[in-house]
Amino acid sequence: MASRKEWNKSSWQEQQVLQQPNWPNEPDVYKVLNNLATLPPLVFAGEIRSLKDLLAKAVVGEAFLLQGGDCSENFSDVTAPKIRETLKVMLQMAIVLTYAGGKPVIKVGRIAGQFAKPRSSDTETIEGVTLPSYRGDMVNHAEFTEEMRQPNPKLMLKGYNMAASTLNLLRAFTRGGYAALDRVQAWNQEFVVQSPMGRSYNRLAKQIDNAIRFMNTIGIPTDIPQVNQTQLFTSHEALLLGYEEALTRVDSTTGDWYDCSAHMLWIGERTRQVDGAHVEFLRGVLNPIGVKVGPEYDLDNIKKLIDVLNPDNEPGRLTLITRLGMSNIEKALPPLLREAKKEGYNIVWSCDPMHANTYTAESGHKTRNFNDILSEITCFFEAHWSEGTVPGGVHFEMTGDNVTECIGGARNIIDDELQNNYLTSCDPRLNAEQSLEVAFQIADMIRS
Ligand code: PEP
Ligand code: CO
Repeated sequence: MASRKEWNKSSWQEQQVLQQPNWPNEPDVYKVLNNLATLPPLVFAGEIRSLKDLLAKAVVGEAFLLQGGDCSENFSDVTAPKIRETLKVMLQMAIVLTYAGGKPVIKVGRIAGQFAKPRSSDTETIEGVTLPSYRGDMVNHAEFTEEMRQPNPKLMLKGYNMAASTLNLLRAFTRGGYAALDRVQAWNQEFVVQSPMGRSYNRLAKQIDNAIRFMNTIGIPTDIPQVNQTQLFTSHEALLLGYEEALTRVDSTTGDWYDCSAHMLWIGERTRQVDGAHVEFLRGVLNPIGVKVGPEYDLDNIKKLIDVLNPDNEPGRLTLITRLGMSNIEKALPPLLREAKKEGYNIVWSCDPMHANTYTAESGHKTRNFNDILSEITCFFEAHWSEGTVPGGVHFEMTGDNVTECIGGARNIIDDELQNNYLTSCDPRLNAEQSLEVAFQIADMIRS
């Protein structure tokens, strides 16, 4: 767009900024942001570039993107066991997709920074009491009291520290031997081992074990990074633009700007206005960018977004994460794919089968049905096959915990069981067993 002014890391401030907290005291916010701007980056430009190179392969079907994690991370869950469980289930899904699906998998966690949430309303009213909505642990607390719901900018600093500790442990796990392929069997979650999914997984793990043993036997070295290490990239919704700006730095080797709060950032369905602040901010940093696309999208508007966010049509720069809902996808996805193909856009197409399939169960719990999730994924693949475009990835809300938040799956969780272990502070997540089940289903689709 020729009319766009020059970008700088603060130029978003001249546009309308949606979904920001009403901080009670501006000077306190500046103090925190100035402090954050002096702290070290969480990720490095070189890592961000390697993610972009990998995503460029997903554009043409030579790799597959697996993005997933909590809807909203909680500070209280920044513990070694919780981080390990999330990593474990991501690694298990990735191994299923790689081995059974036959494609290299790019692992991107909704992790180490997914602490801020967009909300449909600024306030929440319970029994006549109205308080600010909970906007994620980096903004305020979920407990419904006046004190806890007051947005507190110091929580952004805490968020940075929580992201740093999470990343530190993830780097140790992924590089230090925990993710080595000879441990594939050991990753099977305790509660999953006894299930049909756990058994399928174990069979696959044994085959990998045998392959590694065979390589050893005939003298092919397996003490190599490809076998002993892996890489988990980080991502979150770039919502709090003050925080993102404070972590945006110039790469000294290239002179380019990168948002060093995570490798990949995405723009949510509620903040993707072409003239809005979120698009303005993200168009100027060179990270891979995701954009959520809901069922009400306007085709011309999406094309403008693509032009603004990826003017050079660079492969790997832009991932469109469609979240259309199982009842809309068959109608809503093909026109988008057709137009993108006609225009020759380089896009990673990713399917978020979670966000448009949410409903409230009779018990009052916000939930999603495993079958609806699977239906949306199946329709996503079928639409790509018939349009001749490439299904490049999937985007999940999931956890390694044995939660009961989504209905269905091999263990067939029913409405009445949702209360048994419903832990999410935002949207319902697939548990480890449901995540593994969906991975096996997707592996079949990738292979065909
Ligand atoms: C999310 O991914 O948690 C989210 C809020 O999604 P969307 O912007 O697609 O509604
Ligand atoms: Co969500």
